Amino acid sequence: MKVVVIQSFGSPDGLAVTDIPSPVPGPGQVAIATEAIGVGGVDAMIRRGTIAGVGIEEGHVPGSEVAGIVTAVGAGVDTSWTGKRVWAFTGRGGGYAEQALASVEEILPLPAGLSAADAVTLGSSGMVAHFALAHAHFAAGEAVLVRGAAGSIGVMAVQLAARGGARAVAVTTSSAERGARLSALGATHVLDRSGAGADAPTGYDVIIDIISGPDMPAFFDKLAPNGRMVAVGAVAGFPPADFGATMLASFVRSLSFATFSADTVALPDRRAVQLDQWAAASRGDLRAVVHESLPLEKAALAHRKMDEGDVFGRFVLIP
Ligand SMILES: NC(=O)c1ccc[n+]([C@@H]2O[C@H](COP(=O)([O-])OP(=O)(O)OC[C@H]3O[C@@H](n4cnc5c(N)ncnc54)[C@H](OP(=O)(O)O)[C@@H]3O)[C@@H](O)[C@H]2O)c1
Repeated sequence: MKVVVIQSFGSPDGLAVTDIPSPVPGPGQVAIATEAIGVGGVDAMIRRGTIAGVGIEEGHVPGSEVAGIVTAVGAGVDTSWTGKRVWAFTGRGGGYAEQALASVEEILPLPAGLSAADAVTLGSSGMVAHFALAHAHFAAGEAVLVRGAAGSIGVMAVQLAARGGARAVAVTTSSAERGARLSALGATHVLDRSGAGADAPTGYDVIIDIISGPDMPAFFDKLAPNGRMVAVGAVAGFPPADFGATMLASFVRSLSFATFSADTVALPDRRAVQLDQWAAASRGDLRAVVHESLPLEKAALAHRKMDEGDVFGRFVLIP
């Protein structure tokens, strides 16, 4: 079968297309003939070698989310899975392939009416956005800011906050064109990356921060009294070392800061939210934002564009 491997860590040029034997599912696993493969930010980190070691060496096949048809099951797996259309989390790799393996615990049946490309686009990012808003105790009528809204998590956080009855859904983004697309998803205020913009709300009850980095204290300061900031990602790196001082200096406003990782959410709860969101998407109530679908062989192009920031939503590879 055809796969994309990381021949050498670093630039997207290190990704190569090659042929290897199709994998055979082990105990508790299924094999999936992939129809669509999600390209995530973590794949780019793995490709750069940022998290090399811990079982990730050169020769690694990246890709952690696929959708397709179960073609074979390993020992102990219910054979009725064979032939079913599923979404699968494949862990830290193995996804950029015509055939992928996944633990049966990590697969979910796709509803009729949801395409494989939409499934890997909503995939886990919709679930992350849902639980991040829940972690922030978001309630209807509140003002929300999604910092880094144009990414796969952000486009879902915007839609979920709007659907959840937010009074305002402000977004940071780098262009007016992206701002217009975010408005179509439910954003009410489009701000630049510094958080400035016409009629920007004066304070936010909730900030979902996917960016972190040096500007994080300035955004923390934009919280309204009793406001909650939840850090979901660190696209721009860590905040300055004195971020703690900023937090304490604003204690008279009773502000809260929290981190959030979907890894802390129990698997049955994650699965329930994913199934609920996929049903909503197949009814047209939620939108999967596919930036572009490319052939599997073009994985390096998808990575190059991601490195250049040229992605709104998610790239999908089609084998
Ligand atoms: N918490 C969890 O459970 C969880 C799960 C999965 C991933 N993550 C984390 O989430 C992050 C990736 O999320 P994603 O894929 O949605 O994001 P992304 O696509 O990497 O970035 C989102 C947006 O941020 C903006 N941006 C990029 N660089 C920036 C900078 N230096 N300053 C300000 N804005 C910048 C860009 O939009 P504009 O150009 O429009 O500004 C970009 O589209 C990673 O940190 C990953 O580790 C967390």
